[in-house]
Amino acid sequence: MNVHTDQTRGALLLSRLENRSATIGVVGLGYVGLPLVAATAHAGFRVIGFDVDRSKVEKLKTGRSYIDAVSDEALQAIVSAGSFMPTSDFARFAECDVISICVPTPLTKQREPDLSFVENTTRAIAAYLRRDQLIVLESTTYPGTTDEVMKPILEAGGLRSGRDFFLGYSPEREDPGSAGFDTATIPKVVAGDGAVAARLVARFYGSIVDKVVPVSSIKVAEVVKLTENIFRAVNIALVNELKVIYAAMGIDIWEVIEAAKTKPFGYMPFYPGPGLGGHCIPIDPFYLTWKSREFEVSTKFIELAGEINVSMPHYVMSKLSEALDTQLGLPLSQASILIVGVAYKKNVSDVRESPALKLIELLETRAADIAYHDPHVARIPKTRKHPTLAGKDCIKLSRDSIGAYDAIVIVTDHDDIDYGLLANHSRLIIDTRNAMQRNGIVCDRVVKA
Ligand SMILES: NC(=O)c1ccc[n+]([C@@H]2O[C@H](COP(=O)([O-])OP(=O)(O)OC[C@H]3O[C@@H](n4cnc5c(N)ncnc54)[C@H](O)[C@@H]3O)[C@@H](O)[C@H]2O)c1
Repeated sequence: MNVHTDQTRGALLLSRLENRSATIGVVGLGYVGLPLVAATAHAGFRVIGFDVDRSKVEKLKTGRSYIDAVSDEALQAIVSAGSFMPTSDFARFAECDVISICVPTPLTKQREPDLSFVENTTRAIAAYLRRDQLIVLESTTYPGTTDEVMKPILEAGGLRSGRDFFLGYSPEREDPGSAGFDTATIPKVVAGDGAVAARLVARFYGSIVDKVVPVSSIKVAEVVKLTENIFRAVNIALVNELKVIYAAMGIDIWEVIEAAKTKPFGYMPFYPGPGLGGHCIPIDPFYLTWKSREFEVSTKFIELAGEINVSMPHYVMSKLSEALDTQLGLPLSQASILIVGVAYKKNVSDVRESPALKLIELLETRAADIAYHDPHVARIPKTRKHPTLAGKDCIKLSRDSIGAYDAIVIVTDHDDIDYGLLANHSRLIIDTRNAMQRNGIVCDRVVKA
């Protein structure tokens, strides 16, 4: 017989969270999971980190981090103190009071949500689910995932959400490469399936981050994350479209934005570029467009933004081709090109969905000779979308190596690139980030794209 009332339900877990005796499981030790582990251990909890990738687990056990946001020193401190135990042994789910899921949510080849990672993880947790556990999804996904996909899997063994175990959702917000924020200082949106779960999720994250933002339902929390990323995708598309329009009119978009952003209200600057990258902005909006079909509502704005952003590498290639022709009298098919920056954004090493990879692939089909330099990416790793580029090595920047190329294309404006060296020894620079001007370099061989 279940003797819990709404008051006593979850009380044991609540007190374990309050006195830090709860054991926390984090599933998926990647860009989101590993910083969460560090913040959770820092808050005084014992953390078990789960990953199917045994090579990652072995690295972590020896205190070697592969994520920029978590230093080797910080990792070694929590591993040697015994507050972080990385493992691939899913039987240890049974030891956890809270399990936070941070596994990938990519798109399939047909650009539909691929929930296989979430489903596999949920099934693995279900095998060890016990009373009073709190399971929280952090992966970005469409509204309904936690309730319609995860909950039935977890409840299949007979335990009930809100009565026997607790279920929640709390999206991750990250600004990779930015020194201004970390997991603990970014407010965290939280929601639970029922009042007790909501209280537990808020309490758990409240002990790790400075501020939690409770919302009324899991579906609201799921779409908060999508809303934030769709907002970015749409605004970046808008400014990319304006870039193309203004370029045709001989107007520099960068100068326009600098002036527009002096308006103290009603305007927020977004910057154009070579296209979208990373695990989030190019992917997340399509989780919503997919789910919207079920409700027969159209998502024209989101789809249009996607089309514009996806077209940007093609636009950059056309500007490059035109500049090679007009300035050097050289067809693209005979040109050698150096791509500067292959990470999807400045000061990070992540190349997932990077527009640089798309651009390299486009240029290679034109038979141009292509190399790249990126101080954060020594070798292009295997990616789902661009497997043929895996293993390509970074070349060093030097007077001679720069001079050996007909054109340089700045795709990612990392801080630690010697832009002066590029300006002094190149024949032509295509700059997709306004990096030269922002670094105070005046050079008449720069074409913005
Ligand atoms: N990277 C970001 O900046 C960011 C920001 C906000 C939200 N997100 C979201 O967070 C989620 C995770 O993204 P990420 O960038 O950390 O991904 P990631 O690829 O860096 O890490 C995911 C990890 O999960 C592991 N994994 C996969 N399947 C597993 C399983 N069944 N069991 C255990 N481990 C498994 C992988 O080996 C990998 O180490 C995604 O939904 C993403 O959209 C990412």
